Amino acid sequence: MNLHGGRNNIYKIDEMVIRPLQPWTKDVHLFLKYLHDQGFTGVPKPMGLTQHEERVSFLEGDVYTENLPLEMQTDAFMIDLAKLIRQFHDFGARYIHKLTGEEPWMLTAKTTVETMCHGDLAPYNTVIMDNQIIGFIDFDTLHPGSRIWDVAYALYRFVPVMHPENPEDLGTHEDKQRKVKLFLQAYGSEFFNERECFDWMVLRLKYLVDFMTEEASKGNETVISHIEAGHLEGYLKDIHYIQTHWCNQ
Ligand SMILES: Nc1ncnc2c1ncn2[C@@H]1O[C@H](COP(=O)(O)OP(=O)(O)O)[C@@H](O)[C@H]1O
Ligand SMILES: [Mg+2]
Repeated sequence: MNLHGGRNNIYKIDEMVIRPLQPWTKDVHLFLKYLHDQGFTGVPKPMGLTQHEERVSFLEGDVYTENLPLEMQTDAFMIDLAKLIRQFHDFGARYIHKLTGEEPWMLTAKTTVETMCHGDLAPYNTVIMDNQIIGFIDFDTLHPGSRIWDVAYALYRFVPVMHPENPEDLGTHEDKQRKVKLFLQAYGSEFFNERECFDWMVLRLKYLVDFMTEEASKGNETVISHIEAGHLEGYLKDIHYIQTHWCNQ
């Protein structure tokens, strides 16, 4: 069965997900195995590599590729999400000493290295069942980095903190402020404060814009199609909105 995400070369056979092998997949699997060995089950189990493919366990549940359904846009959801990301980062923080520094990650750390960043924490990479978060999928963007790098992007996507004209935007400014606070309280306030989150959100999105521009110039077809669909323009609009409505507030 084909699985629908951003591309069409991902499919499911016998409760396993088959995805194309990438230069970083071996290192991703080592980390996923570490998480499962440590008892963290909110990620797919690595099930082996072939010459061209990776196999990971299928997490049963729903993945929402656009907005979360209304019944999930709750404070309780934001708190659960923050706690799960915190746990994920705590395990990542214990893992980084195992890295050699030679791993060919897709993304390079733009920050101090404190943990393993998922790199793309968003509803479209989150499996949910009965309003409960089952786990995160799609670890192609895994790389060492800082907690705030992942947190800022998760807030951008899940709160969400976006320009009101972004089709994925929802909720009032007050709703968003409350959700950001609840998220950060549940994650734990010892690592960063609320104000710097928005500066990091801008940096994270600028990095994405630069990454997309560079990949498109190298002929990356997927990225070119995203740019043609208006995604890059959308990020630039969101950046401006965050700078004017959220930074230094
Ligand atoms: N381990 C998994 N468990 C459950 N569903 C998965 C899993 N991996 C992928 N999927 C499904 O396949 C879709 C695409 O996979 P994903 O790994 O996110 O790749 P991409 O975003 O590059 O298309 C996801 O939106 C999800 O519906
Ligand atoms: Mg995905």
